[in-house]
Amino acid sequence: MAQALPPPPAGAAADWTVPQEWHLYGAAEHAMWDRLFERQSRMLRGRVVPEFIEGLDILRMTKPGIPDFGELSERLMQRTGWQVVAVPGLVPDRLFFEHLANRRFVAGRFIRSPGQIDYLQEPDVFHDIFGHVPLLTHPAFADYMQAYGEGGLRADGLGAIDRLARLYWYTVEFGLIRRDGALKLYGAGIVSSHGESIFALDDPSPHRLGFDLRRLMRTRYRIDDYQQCYFVIDSFEDLLRQTAETDFAPIYRELEGEADLDPAEIVAQDRVFHWGTQHRVGEHSGNSAEERS
Ligand code: PHE
Ligand code: FE
Repeated sequence: MAQALPPPPAGAAADWTVPQEWHLYGAAEHAMWDRLFERQSRMLRGRVVPEFIEGLDILRMTKPGIPDFGELSERLMQRTGWQVVAVPGLVPDRLFFEHLANRRFVAGRFIRSPGQIDYLQEPDVFHDIFGHVPLLTHPAFADYMQAYGEGGLRADGLGAIDRLARLYWYTVEFGLIRRDGALKLYGAGIVSSHGESIFALDDPSPHRLGFDLRRLMRTRYRIDDYQQCYFVIDSFEDLLRQTAETDFAPIYRELEGEADLDPAEIVAQDRVFHWGTQHRVGEHSGNSAEERS
C-alpha cells in the first residue's frame, strides 16, 4: 500500500526536482560527456534502432558538451510533450511514477569521473540523458513511458510494483527490438554502456527471447552484471498495444500463484531467438550503470 513519502533532500522542491545549474559544469565535465558521447555514438552505428539516432539529431544532442535540460525540454515538448527535469539522485517510486505520468523524465545532473568510465553504481547524466532521452522523441515510445508512470501508480495500490519494475527493466533499460529480421538495441542501460552494447547483441552467452508480458513479469534480473536474458519486442507500437491497452490488475492476481523464473531459465512457450550458453555469467560483475528497480 502507498506509504508516506520521505521529505525532499535539502535544496530540492517538494517533487524532488532541483535546478540543473548548467553553468556550474566545468571543462573537464563537458569533456567527459564528449568522450562518452563520441565512443558510444560510434559503437551504436548499425546496432541501435534508427529512431534513437534520429532522436539525437532532433534534440541536437550531437553538439558538444553536457546538454542543457531546458533546451532539450523545449525541443521534446514540441515533438511529444515531454520535459527533462533534474533530481539529486534516485527518487521514491511514487514520485518517479508521478513524473512519468506527467511526461517529465527525471535525470541525474552529475557526470561520472574518469575512473568510472565503464563502471558506475548510480545512473549519471550520461546514462539518463544519452540513454533515455533520444527515444522520447518517438511518439509510441513517449506514450509508453507515460502509460508506465500511470501503471506504476496503480501497481503501487495493488502491491505489484516489483512485477511492474521487471517490465521497465527488460524494456526501457535492457530491451532489444527486431528490425528487418535483425536484432537492434534500444534499452538505455545497454546503449549507455560500451561493453554491454556489444555483449547484448553479439555475445553467445545471454538468452534472447521474444517479448511475452507475463513471462517477463515473472523473470528476476541482476543489477550487478550484464544481463543473462534479453527480451525482444517487434515494434514500439506493439509494445504500447500489449501494455497500455491491457489491464494489468487481473494479470498481477494470476501471477501471484506462479513461481519466479531465474534469468538463465528457458520455458516451453518461449520464443527463442538465441539460446544462450550462459558461459559468461559473473564475468562482468560490477558493470551495471543502472539501479532503478
Ligand atoms: N496497463 C497497465 C495497467 O493496467 C499500465 C501500464 C501501461 C504499464 C504501460 C506499463 C506500460 O496497470
Ligand atoms: Fe535508466
